[in-house]
Amino acid sequence: MKRRIESKQEPETELPGKPVSASRSEMTEIVLPAQTNPLGKLLGGQVMHLVDMVAALAAHRHSNSYVVTASVDYIDFRNPVNLGEIVNLKSQVNRVFRTSIEVGVEVYSENALTGERRHTTTAYVTFVAVDEHTRMPKPVPPLIVKTPEERRRFDEAAERRKTRLALRYGR
Ligand SMILES: CC(C)(COP(=O)(O)OP(=O)(O)OC[C@H]1O[C@@H](n2cnc3c(N)ncnc32)[C@H](O)[C@@H]1OP(=O)(O)O)[C@@H](O)C(=O)NCCC(=O)NCCS
Repeated sequence: MKRRIESKQEPETELPGKPVSASRSEMTEIVLPAQTNPLGKLLGGQVMHLVDMVAALAAHRHSNSYVVTASVDYIDFRNPVNLGEIVNLKSQVNRVFRTSIEVGVEVYSENALTGERRHTTTAYVTFVAVDEHTRMPKPVPPLIVKTPEERRRFDEAAERRKTRLALRYGR
């Protein structure tokens, strides 16, 4: 019998759950000279800006709220992106807590002349949903995870949360 893996977080709100697929987001850019260093490589700060933007899209879509970036706890530059290459960014919600949302981002470079694609960057960004009037943190819908991959990301996010909150609050 096929095992049913669909599951939802413990309800902390009355909001209906939303699947990971509902907020998955993508962005595509081409690397221009103003965004590169003297070696013709995309600046790390530009990559971080794009990561923040594509991650915010997923958090905004999941929460249907305004969101602020609370922390970026991991960003890894494995390969450079060269001038003239295409940058593809993909984001998905890994896990939500009460008012915060962890989003995972993957960045790929693409050389349109050769068709070569490379994984260049991985990042985890946490957003907090805020009420549009009070600007205070507000609860977000639970996340419904359906696939083994979504479950793995969901489980790993709990460990990362422990680390990032220990860094902020010192406990
Ligand atoms: C992020 C921020 C809203 C948290 O506010 P706060 O007063 O510490 O709020 P709370 O203690 O009530 O925590 C609210 C949520 O933030 C989470 N949080 C706080 N610090 C965090 C951190 N470093 N990393 C991840 N989540 C964090 C808390 O865990 C909580 O989430 P939960 O409800 O899911 O458990 C606040 O620090 C802030 O406004 N920071 C500036 C954000 C900003 O300007 N970003 C850049 C531009 S968008």
